[in-house]
Amino acid sequence: RRVGVVQAGGLSSLALGIWLREQGVDAHHYVADLGQSGPDDLAALVDSLRTAGLPATLVDLRPAMAALGLDLLRYQARHDGGYWNTTGASRLVLVEQLAPVLRADGRTVLAHGCVGGGNDQRRFARYGARLAPDLGVYAPWTDPAALARFPNRAAMYAAVTGAGLWLDPGSDADRSTDANLAGASHESTELEDLATPVAPKTLTPRWSAWPADAPTDGGSVTVTIEAGRVTDVGGHGADPVAVLTAANHLGATHGSWLRDVVERRIIGTRCRGVYEAPGLEVLDVAWHKALEVTLDPYSRALYEQLGGALGAAVYEARYRDPVAAAARAALDALTAAVSATVELTLRGGAVTAAGVRTPGGDTDRQTRFGTGGHQWRDLAPAAA
Ligand code: ARG
Repeated sequence: RRVGVVQAGGLSSLALGIWLREQGVDAHHYVADLGQSGPDDLAALVDSLRTAGLPATLVDLRPAMAALGLDLLRYQARHDGGYWNTTGASRLVLVEQLAPVLRADGRTVLAHGCVGGGNDQRRFARYGARLAPDLGVYAPWTDPAALARFPNRAAMYAAVTGAGLWLDPGSDADRSTDANLAGASHESTELEDLATPVAPKTLTPRWSAWPADAPTDGGSVTVTIEAGRVTDVGGHGADPVAVLTAANHLGATHGSWLRDVVERRIIGTRCRGVYEAPGLEVLDVAWHKALEVTLDPYSRALYEQLGGALGAAVYEARYRDPVAAAARAALDALTAAVSATVELTLRGGAVTAAGVRTPGGDTDRQTRFGTGGHQWRDLAPAAA
């Protein structure tokens, strides 16, 4: 069997590499660039894998990740607690984009390092079955033999650092971060206690400033939305990678990024996560203003209902199921009329829509009624 490893440089994927090497398995590592780290870090990861005798190739998946990240926004496909399930989205991108690469290299098994009991294991299984039924999916951290060798994160940490592998800075024996261009999720031993506040002592944001440290003078930026898509943020252009990169920079600098959420996992257990999605949080303010001025309330109600259904599909890895495709088709129809230019102001961690223009013109009719419209006194017969 020739194995392709989905490798992003977190602890459990790197430990997977060591485990396969110890078993003498023919494995090649596909380091997916989802925008989780800078290019230097990913180059360091690839180098360290090769040096440790783990063959590796870098695959740029940022365009697909950015496009799907922006679709979460325009469809309002959110999860429990209103957060952006960027991890669920990335599992689709990884399987859909890497399967053809693995096949072209003659790999027959896709291996990933997601741990037992979590959602990600189910997502790889589900997308594997739907999108790449010809490939086997191997999840070592459900395999008793692998678990005997690596019973916990501390054992993984010792082996990974011992092998000199580059380890993602958000990942160690007590913390797990999953990140991509659309956002990051943080879980940690400390935050598992729901009474523990999210604070600089308990969380290190991946990219972002704490709201309290955001500049008070802020500034403003113009977001352009055309036919349901964000086509510009502050003059950086319509390419989805450019849109998200520009928006991420704004949200990170201006302290707009954080959601602290307790959710129910696919298997029903509760889990607490902290979500850092600076770009999507900033763009969401512009998007909501655009919705408000372009959609009637009945369209809006259906839009929200379908967006919620799609959010569940992202979470549960049903995004390529027929029902999700049908929801997207309807959402595309509903959002085709959403076009607006929104001026955002950023101040002390808060993002506000200060003004909006739509192609149809934007005078508030109610105000015009009072000044230019007909009123009762115009229509009433003059007093005799
Ligand atoms: N709770 C989120 C989800 O189910 C985030 C999972 C985060 N994964 C991680 N390895 N830190 O999608």
